[in-house]
This record gives sequence, structure tokens and C-alpha cells, in this order.
Amino acid sequence: MYFSNNNEKIIIIDFGSQVTKLIARRIRDIGVYSEIITPIELSKLRDYNGVKGIIFSGGPSTVTKNNFQTIPKKILSLKIPILGICYGLQLIAKLLGGKIKSSKKKREFGRAFLLKRNKSLLTYKFFKSNKLVWMSHEDAVIKMPKNFKIIASTNNSKLTIIENTKKKIYGVQFHPEVTHTDNGKQIFKNFAFLICRVKKNWDTVSQKKRLIHDVKKIVKNDKVICALSGGVDSSVAALLINKAIRKNLICIMVDTGLMRKNEFKHTYKIFKKKYKLNVRLINASKIFLNRLKNITNPEKKRKIIGNLFVKIFEKEAKKIKKVKFLAQGTLYPDIIESRSSTGSKTSKIKSHHNVGGLPKKMNLRLIEPLKDFFKDEVRVLGKSLGLTNNISYRHPFPGPGLGIRIIGNITHEKIKILQEADYIYINELIKSNLYNKIWQAYVALLPTKTVGVMGDSRTYEYTCLLRAVTSEDGMTADYFNFPKDFLDKISNKIINNVRGVNRVVYDITSKPPSTIELE
Ligand code: XMP
Repeated sequence: MYFSNNNEKIIIIDFGSQVTKLIARRIRDIGVYSEIITPIELSKLRDYNGVKGIIFSGGPSTVTKNNFQTIPKKILSLKIPILGICYGLQLIAKLLGGKIKSSKKKREFGRAFLLKRNKSLLTYKFFKSNKLVWMSHEDAVIKMPKNFKIIASTNNSKLTIIENTKKKIYGVQFHPEVTHTDNGKQIFKNFAFLICRVKKNWDTVSQKKRLIHDVKKIVKNDKVICALSGGVDSSVAALLINKAIRKNLICIMVDTGLMRKNEFKHTYKIFKKKYKLNVRLINASKIFLNRLKNITNPEKKRKIIGNLFVKIFEKEAKKIKKVKFLAQGTLYPDIIESRSSTGSKTSKIKSHHNVGGLPKKMNLRLIEPLKDFFKDEVRVLGKSLGLTNNISYRHPFPGPGLGIRIIGNITHEKIKILQEADYIYINELIKSNLYNKIWQAYVALLPTKTVGVMGDSRTYEYTCLLRAVTSEDGMTADYFNFPKDFLDKISNKIINNVRGVNRVVYDITSKPPSTIELE
């Protein structure tokens, strides 16, 4: 049994598309519970209880080769409505006797113009405000399976939307889940409510009661420890568990010295005073700095920081008696990603160790109350638990902190310079109402010094790199297009106020080809 929730649901089969998660989010956005599973998990599924619809995602595989990702053909005759997206459509066509061709000439990447050919429940109210859709394919269905009908075409692919209403099987070549497809949400609404006839059953806030009840039932009178970082995930997990078991939750905040200026201590005070959490602050900055001396390799830095964090946390945890559980702010995307490495073909670019990822040998049972939720759902949950906007809408901050934003070796002096520059940048973003338009922003310190001139003197100092990206889930990202005035202001302010910096640059690369962090 793979499902963690007994609600009526729509399941999404992940064939490895980078945007599979968006499909699940779109379905949840319209108030329907959705889960992602791999093709292997689907083939092992015996019990379809509560499954009201199945969506096949896109993916890098091709049905034009011998070895393609597939599913047992019998799934197509279960009478559960199916929607195939991109590769999902091609797979349906292949399994039911259609023809698919790979064509360099007729491939479509980016926007395409959609032409309505027939009426369909799937496209109810869709064409009203929509003709542009987003495509990403080289393979295309060139002959439909028997008893299918064309609903829409583009210039390059005649069979862009097809359906077989008797079998309740639908396929779209474009990606309704991405925002570049206008009105894409309507396709999911139609599929869920008109075709699958599922009822609205999902909203984050009403899940809160269930979660608090579950934690009480599992933990009983035992104690839970939690590594609290001040990021939104661990904060929401802590507040939720605190609601259930109060003082039996003990939070540990380890200050690595690699945090943003003032942020960690400020967060500690909020948790202690405002939320009355049982929280301990461990100042370990000297130990971290010592161990990181002269280390320049990014992966080594990550390992040292992660291992040391675990050691310190373990030492503190041992001082607390009768602890049986370890709470973590694991989110649904973390679960999907760790699963997809075996199941589907989504490839991992960098291996992130989350400092919250503590070792199993501690012999504690894990509690992960947020494991069914996406980040934006967790924010909504946070809000309903009274979490301040300041924490709820905080940009993501990596576990290794400023350690991977100081390129090259880390020194006390460099940490101070970076903290000051970053503080100015983030505060200006907030003042200019830009912070919430950006997914993640930070300053990094580059390792080389360059020549400048200030007043009448020559300077030889560091360069600050500003990063600001828009993104939906951190998997892909684009740089934020600042007004020139803002960049002028920020450069000026950093140079005038931060000793040790004589140059400010703005990073204008997207991900891919670069990553969000520099190390
Ligand atoms: P990249 O740099 O891979 O980052 O494009 C994607 C997102 O992940 C965050 N990140 C990390 N988070 N531990 C974490 O908890 C890490 O080691 C780590 N490295 C990167 C990054 O800040 C961005 O939000």
C-alpha cells in the first residue's frame, strides 16, 4: 500500500518529467487530493480504493525505441479515467495500437497555437480564453489508436488532444500543468470534476486537526526532539507537534555561525517567547569555524558541516531523558525525490544533505507530519498555526548556510563581510516590495580580490555577488529582472557600508545551466 491518505484521490504516474510535481500541485489547488507514484509502484498496486483518476506524466523516455518506460496494459481497461500528458499520451497511443514518430523537423518546444477540432468534456471552457499552449516534444502521435477522436491540433502535430470517451481515456501533447499554458488549470478541473467525478476533499487547513490528532495518538506520553532551523518546514512541524504534546516536544537549535545576520537569535526568541516552545539554543560557531579552516572544496564543506551538526545534535539529545521520537520537517517533494531515483528517471543534479537529515542509529522513531504537503501548503498551514509571515514566507536557506556562499576558504572576517552585505540586500528587497516576488535571494562572497579606487586611494578588496531567482520548486529557476535603479541603489549601499567590498556583480544565469547556489 503506497497511499498515506485514504481520501478519494487522483494518482499521477511519474515517468520522470521535471514538472510532474506541478501536476500534483494543480490537482490539489483545485481541492482534490493527489499523490505521485512511480510506474513500478503502479504495477504492484492491488487496491485501487479511492483512486478516481490516473494521470500519466511526461518524461524523457521514447516509445519509438525498444526499451521504453511502460505500465501494465490492463491499467487502460480498469474504467478509471486516464489523462496522458506528453509522454503519457504517446504511451497510451502506443499501448493501444497507435503510431508514434520521432521528428526533428516537426518537433515543438515552447508555445504553440492550438486549433479546436471537436467538442470534449476535457476542453469545456478551455478554449474561451486559450489558444496558446506550452509544448516540449520531438515524438508525436501520427496515427490514433482505434475509436479515438481528435479534439484539437497544432500546425506541427495534428493529434494534440485526443479522446476515447467510452474508455474514458484522454491525452494531451502539451503541458497544461505549466503556467505558460494559459488556462491549463481548466483541463485539470474538467478531468477531475466532469470526467473523474471526484468531489472536492482537500484543503490544507482542515488537515491540521487530523495531524494534531495523529501526533497525539502516536506519541502518547513520550518525548519528541526536533532540530529547529528557523526555516518554514521545521518551524511548522514544531508548532504543529507543540499543539499536540506541548512541553514533551524539545527543540534544539544549533547555531553553526553560518547563519544570516541576527536571524537565528531572533528566531530563537520568537519560538521561546511568542510560541512558548521548549527550545534550547546551542552556540557551536567556534567549533564549526575551526573545522572548516582552509577547506575550499564545496562537497567537503557540506560533509563537515553536516557531520558536525549531527554530532552536536546527538550530544544534546542524549542529555534529554525518555526521548522516543525525532521530528523532521520532511515535505512531500522530499519523499517523491528520494523515491524517483529508483522508480523513474528524474535525475538528481546535486546531492543535498539536509542538516535536518539525522542518522537512524539514534534509535528514535521518525515523525514527519508534513510528509503529505507541498511547500506552499505548509505555508498555509503555518499561517493557520499563527506562524509570523516573516518565517512563513522566508526564502529557502540551505543547511550548510553561508558556508557554501563564501566561495573558497571560510574565515571569521569573510562571514562578517557577507552577513553585512546580505543584510543590506535582503532589507532593501523587503523595503522595495520585491522580496515576495522572488523565490530566493542572497549574497555570495567571491574568493578573489580586485583593484578599485575609493576617495583618492587604491583599494584591493572582495567582490559580492547578488543572486535573485524566480522558481516554482527550485528544480529550475530564472534570474529576477531587477529595475536598474534598484541595482544601482543596492550596489552603492553595499560599497558604502561594508568594509572589505569594492565591487558588486549581479548573476544573470538561469538554472539550468547553472544552479541556484554557487557551490
Ligand atoms: P541548487 O543550488 O541545487 O539549489 O540549484 C536548489 C535549492 O536547494 C537549496 N540547497 C540546499 N538545501 N542543503 C539544503 O538544505 C543543501 O546542502 C543545499 N544545497 C542547495 C538551495 O538553496 C536552493 O533553494
